[in-house]
Amino acid sequence: MLHGKRILLVIGGGIAAFKSLDLIRRLRERGATVTPVLTRAAEEFVTPLSASALAASKVYRDLFDLTDEAEMGHIELSRAADLIVVAPATADLMAKMAGGHANDLASTLLMATDKRVMIVPAMNVRMWEHPATQRNLATLRGDGILVVGPDEGPMACGEFGPGRMAEVPEIVQAVEAALISGPLTGKRVVVTSGPTHEPIDPVRYIANRSSGAQGTALAAALRDLGADVVFVTGPATVPPPDGVQVVAVETAQQMHDAVLSALPADLAVFAAAVADWRTASQAESKMKKDGSGDVPTLTLTMNPDILAAVAQLDADRRPGLVVGFAAETDDVVSHATAKRARKGCDWIVANDVSAGTGIMGGSENAVTLITQDGAETWERASKDAVARQLAARMAEALGA
Ligand code: C5P
Repeated sequence: MLHGKRILLVIGGGIAAFKSLDLIRRLRERGATVTPVLTRAAEEFVTPLSASALAASKVYRDLFDLTDEAEMGHIELSRAADLIVVAPATADLMAKMAGGHANDLASTLLMATDKRVMIVPAMNVRMWEHPATQRNLATLRGDGILVVGPDEGPMACGEFGPGRMAEVPEIVQAVEAALISGPLTGKRVVVTSGPTHEPIDPVRYIANRSSGAQGTALAAALRDLGADVVFVTGPATVPPPDGVQVVAVETAQQMHDAVLSALPADLAVFAAAVADWRTASQAESKMKKDGSGDVPTLTLTMNPDILAAVAQLDADRRPGLVVGFAAETDDVVSHATAKRARKGCDWIVANDVSAGTGIMGGSENAVTLITQDGAETWERASKDAVARQLAARMAEALGA
């Protein structure tokens, strides 16, 4: 239920805007207060009067409406809500949001808000698939914007494909999920994930087989408990979760810098498979075979240990709980216990990645949790289930 929740509903100009009128009703049925904002284009599809009648609220339309400013300024309006929902989010609105435009009431509210924003895209299939829209979508996801839909199916324009606005029950469900506060609401969490790539020359790099699956699942599980998640990811094969702030990096040094600048945080989880070494120097241009049969020698140097650096920060900068991972192939518990002490972190989540377990790059994980109280071995389960179990334990440890 949504009792006491305030939703600012930005209705964009698209044929799907009629569904937003039903959305107002369904959100109110569940106890939410809905304040509609109509773009100029939206008024071509639905009338302010119908939005106002269904919402039992004033409808906001114009940035320069001085009466509105006297009652409630646009900054205040953007912050009075618990969640801003943009439905339908047209290609144009998405582009404005991704580009940081603020030239009408809707785009200004979206720039000024300090609340979570959810978009429900709806547009013609070609517009949806256009590289510009996909670029904007990636930017918005990276900014932590929640995205619902679009669905695939026949469209008002006669074409078929992805671009239909999600159905109202699906949007209501997503709104509920976004607004239900969890034990980690108000907590800031940094999660590292994926491999790092360490360049040798402009075309070659040192890498590893991490898919980023476990780190991604953990970030999603922590988000679902209400945490504000900064997700610092190397070039992973699985896409980052929605609703988290994504910081994409390539090298260990970049990951180190991104993590340190994301602090302070209440919790830091280091699920990335960081390359231990990088080349001591990088060739400016592609290294060539010279025909002599000689092979180049790569001189390596140590990368910063990000986990150890954060775990050993002074108490005023160190997150309250610092969790590392340990991928081991033998003597898992004793190696991981030694690693916990060496790095100075609070917990180590250890797993056996020896050949035959299928864990590295696979969908399951079997972990042993090492804490100050000793080692606990958990049953093998999907990486999602392990993530949820770990997230719940982290929330408990933070006293949430
Ligand atoms: O020393 P090892 O690589 O086995 O330690 C693994 C743990 O340390 C993981 O949590 C990993 O994310 C983290 N780590 C790191 N920076 C490094 C190496 C490892 O944060 N340079």
